[in-house]
Amino acid sequence: MADDRIRRLSLINLRREIIEGKLIDTLMRTAIEYAGAERGLLILARNDEYRVEAEVTTSDDTVTVGQRQPSVTAAGLPESILHYVMRTKESVLLHDAAAANPFSADEYIQRQHARSILCLPLLKQSRLAGVLYLENNLTAHVFTPARMTVLNLLASQAAMSLENTRLYGDLQEREARIQRLVDSNIIGIFVWDLDGRISDANEAFLRIVGYSRDDLVSGRLRWRDLTPTEWRDADDRRVADLEATGTAHPYEKEYFLKSGGRVPVLVGAARFGGRHDQGMAFVVDLTERKRAEEEIRESERRYSEVQMELVHANRVATMGQLSASIAHEVMQPIAATVTNAQAALRFLNARRPNLEEVREALGAAVKEGNRTIDVIDGIRALNKKAPPRKDDLEINEAVLEVIALTRAEVLKNGISVRTQLAESLPLIRADRVQLQQVIMNLIINAVEALSSVREGARELVITTGKGEPDGVLVVVRDSGPGLSSAGLERIFEAFYTTKPGGLGMGLSICRTIIEAHGGRLWATAAQPQGATFQFTLP
Ligand SMILES: Nc1ncnc2c1ncn2[C@@H]1O[C@H](COP(=O)(O)OP(=O)(O)OP(=O)(O)O)[C@@H](O)[C@H]1O
Ligand SMILES: [Mg+2]
Repeated sequence: MADDRIRRLSLINLRREIIEGKLIDTLMRTAIEYAGAERGLLILARNDEYRVEAEVTTSDDTVTVGQRQPSVTAAGLPESILHYVMRTKESVLLHDAAAANPFSADEYIQRQHARSILCLPLLKQSRLAGVLYLENNLTAHVFTPARMTVLNLLASQAAMSLENTRLYGDLQEREARIQRLVDSNIIGIFVWDLDGRISDANEAFLRIVGYSRDDLVSGRLRWRDLTPTEWRDADDRRVADLEATGTAHPYEKEYFLKSGGRVPVLVGAARFGGRHDQGMAFVVDLTERKRAEEEIRESERRYSEVQMELVHANRVATMGQLSASIAHEVMQPIAATVTNAQAALRFLNARRPNLEEVREALGAAVKEGNRTIDVIDGIRALNKKAPPRKDDLEINEAVLEVIALTRAEVLKNGISVRTQLAESLPLIRADRVQLQQVIMNLIINAVEALSSVREGARELVITTGKGEPDGVLVVVRDSGPGLSSAGLERIFEAFYTTKPGGLGMGLSICRTIIEAHGGRLWATAAQPQGATFQFTLP
């Protein structure tokens, strides 16, 4: 009966004491009052170390919980007994320590003339949570079997409660941390039900969706209703994740605002431990980020627009430089057409027209006329401000077309052009017009460099070959004055020029074009003199 009462009492009390944080106090008082001890010590494991948490002494029927002793050694108890209990997790009961016993040699027992001693392990699932030490130095045989039963019960209850207190403390700390997060209003947080309700939310969340606390309290705020229809599927998938794993990884979606608009958000959620249908969600407002992203996209778009303008302007300028050359290139086939047509007329005017000769002359005229059309088409394409387009093209063909357009200019400057075009090169995906602009820029630069050569050969060599590991390589080499080492680094910068009439845009635009195609353009010194420019295209 007494056991029952004590058990109930201790259970109720200990539970309550957890909340009041006075568990140890109660435990010690109970131990002393029911066991008839004169002094008691509670030793608990704290971070792998055993420390005296409480000391209780009775005098004149009053119990005082003394100050904690920092370490076990300074506490005043038979250490050999304590160590034995810790090691074996078994209790030690000495009815009369003055009589011979296995611990008689203990210094404390001899010094204090101890009589009744009881040392109990506090076990939580066979883990040692602490030790309860009780003594009565006035009377032997204090700790009777009846009292022992009570004490053992109390000890196991205490061990459990101590553990609970620790867990409860941890929990409280965790809750406090979460509460701080909620209150800080850095991110929106709400408590959800699977049926779509929002039972609680912080200010940040209400601000994000534009609702008031009244709306929340009145139950008008439902996350299902806040979600536009096209996001419902995504939501359902996350709910499935929540049910399966307890968490839903953050995902981007939208919520309706109270005002009717929408807000882009990042949402993550977790289920509460004990409950399957309720949990917490955090919400980050992505409006700012989306705006920033949009701005970046817009400025990238404008940048590439300006870039395209520049590429076009450079092309038109280069064409201007070449106009005499190009005119010559067009004039040639036109002149040939006229000559052939005149010949045909002459043949027809003969007394006995030779129709075979007429046919041949007209055929030649058609061929030359077509060549003119081709050349003009090429020029038109180069002058057009067309958006870039990727074609499968043959690099040698593109090179030869540019050489044709620049031929007159090259001849005018007394330059000899050699080509070494590799056969069966892979087709490359590139914008033909832009690619030809690069080759044209490199040839014009070489021509300009060579025109300053007073002595020695003026040579221009254009080579094509296989790229590494694949694609193609184009090399434009001249025997001009070459580049200084300082020049080598700067020539690709925009507006770097050493020419009186130069803009310094040519090479910078060439590099932009080649890199936009996934290739590389670079310059080196040629041997024995001159400059080499080469680029690769994948
Ligand atoms: N083949 C070359 N040999 C020697 N120097 C060169 C050669 N090609 C370019 N350079 C040097 O690099 C500089 C920059 O060339 P880039 O084509 O960018 O501009 P530019 O030719 O001066 O002017 P533009 O904008 O009209 O092309 C040139 O001014 C010149 O000093
Ligand atoms: Mg140039």
